[in-house]
Amino acid sequence: MSVTVLVGAQWGDEGKGKIIDVLTRDVDMVIRFQGGNNAGHTVEIGDQKYVLHLIPSGIFRPDTINIIGNGLVVDPLALQEEMEGLIKRGIAVKNLQLSDKAHLIMPYHKLMDAMKEGQLAEGKKIGTTKRGIGPAYTDKADRCGIRALELLDLAEFRVHFTEQAEKYNRIFAAAGQETLDIDAEWLQLKAAAEYLKPYIKDTVLEVNQAARAGKNILFEGAQGALLDVDHGTYPFVTSSNTTSGGACTGSGLSPRYIQDVYGVIKAYTTRVGEGPFQTELHGPEGEALRKAGNEYGATTGRPRRCGWFDAVASRYSCMVNGINKLAITKLDVLDRLPEVKLCVAYDIDGKRYEEMPSDSRLLYKVKPVYETLPGWMCSTDHVSCWDDLPEKAKKYLRRLAELVDAEIGIVSVGPNRSQTFEL
Ligand code: GDP
Ligand code: IMO
Ligand code: MG
Repeated sequence: MSVTVLVGAQWGDEGKGKIIDVLTRDVDMVIRFQGGNNAGHTVEIGDQKYVLHLIPSGIFRPDTINIIGNGLVVDPLALQEEMEGLIKRGIAVKNLQLSDKAHLIMPYHKLMDAMKEGQLAEGKKIGTTKRGIGPAYTDKADRCGIRALELLDLAEFRVHFTEQAEKYNRIFAAAGQETLDIDAEWLQLKAAAEYLKPYIKDTVLEVNQAARAGKNILFEGAQGALLDVDHGTYPFVTSSNTTSGGACTGSGLSPRYIQDVYGVIKAYTTRVGEGPFQTELHGPEGEALRKAGNEYGATTGRPRRCGWFDAVASRYSCMVNGINKLAITKLDVLDRLPEVKLCVAYDIDGKRYEEMPSDSRLLYKVKPVYETLPGWMCSTDHVSCWDDLPEKAKKYLRRLAELVDAEIGIVSVGPNRSQTFEL
C-alpha cells in the first residue's frame, strides 16, 4: 500500500500532469482534491497530447479509479465537455467519480469573476483564469453554494439555482453589467446534470475503503504552493489550499495514511497571471526561456512569465508541503544556455533575506542574489538514467536539491511519458 500526495512546488504548470501519468503505472486510485478547471495538466503519450482541466491524470490507465474530490469547485458544463472530448478520442471515462460534496461553479460565478477582475485597478488585478473559481469558493464558505449532490434532484436544483441566479442578477444589474438569462442557463445545466448523474458518488467512502483495503493512492495537486490561499503570495493566489494539507480536507482521507509528498518543480521558474515574481527575467533572456520551454498557459493560452530557479521560494514550498521527493521537470529547456543561475537569497532594501517574507509588497522589491553555474550545452532530451546526464547538469540538479532541502526522485527531460527517469 502507498499513499502519496503530489503537488506543484512553484506557481503551477510545473509538469504535474506528466509526472502523475508516469506514476499512475503503479496506482489504483488518483484523486484531485482542490481547484477546478483553472488547472491545465498536459499529458503526452506517444504522438497524442491531452490537456486535462478537471479529470485526474490517471484517466489514461484503464484500471485506475479517478476521483474528483469534495474539495474541488466543478463547472458541470466544463466537466461534461471534457468527458465528451476524451470519449471522442477513445479514452473511456467509466472509472471517473465526482464527489457528491464537491461544490459547483455556476454561470453567475464566471460572470462575477470577470466583473471583479474588471473592477480592480492596474497593479491590483489577480489575472484569474475567469473560470469562476474565486466566487464559487466564496459561496462555499458563505454557505450558499450548490453541491454536486443537488444535481440528483432536478426540481430542488432548479429552485436553488434560480434563487441564487436572481440574487446575482440583482448585483450585476446594480453594477450596470450584463445579467444572466436564467431560463437559457437552466436548460444547459439540466442537460449537464442528466449527463453527470451516473458519476456522482460518496467518494469519501470510496477513498477510505480503498485506503483500508491497502490500495495504492495518488493525490493530484493542482496549481502550486505559491498560489495557495494561505501560504502563497497573497492576494495574488488562487482560492484553495494547493499545498499537501489540502489533500486530506479535499478528499476526506485522514493524514495518518499519507507516506510521501512529491513536489514537482521546474528546473527554472514560471508564473502566469499577475503578482510578484522574484526572479522574473524581462527582455530577451525571459523570451528565450519562454520559447525553449514553450511556456504558454495550457488553460488560457497566455504567455507565461519566465525566470531563473528561485531556491528561496522553493525551499519554503518544500517546507510547507513536507516534500520529501522532488520531480524536477524541463531540464532539457536549459540545454543550450552557457550558464545557469539559482537564486539563493533575496536582497530587499539592502537587507539579505534567506527566507521568503510573507508580505507580497516586499516580494516586489526583491533583488535576487544568484549563484551561477556553467551550462552543459548539450542535449539531454534522450537521457534515460542519472548516470548518462552531463556532469554539469548533475551538478546543477544536486545543488538545486541541496538548496531546497529535498531529495531528487524523478527527472524529466521532455514532455513525453518516455522522457522521464527515476533515481
Ligand atoms: P501542470 O499544470 O503542472 O500539469 O503543467 P502544464 O501541463 O500546464 O505545463 C507543463 C508543460 O510542459 C506541458 O506542455 C508539458 O507537456 C511540458 N513538459 C512537462 N515536462 C516536460 C519536460 O521535462 N520537458 C519539456 N520540454 N516539456 C515538459
Ligand atoms: P495548474 O494546475 C498556473 C493562477 C491564475 C491567477 C491565479 C488565480 O495547471 O498548474 P484563479 O482562476 O485560480 O482564481 O486564478 O492563479 N492559476 C494558475 N497558474 N497554473 C495553474 O494551474 C493555475 N490555476 C490558477 O493565472 O494568477
Ligand atoms: Mg498547467
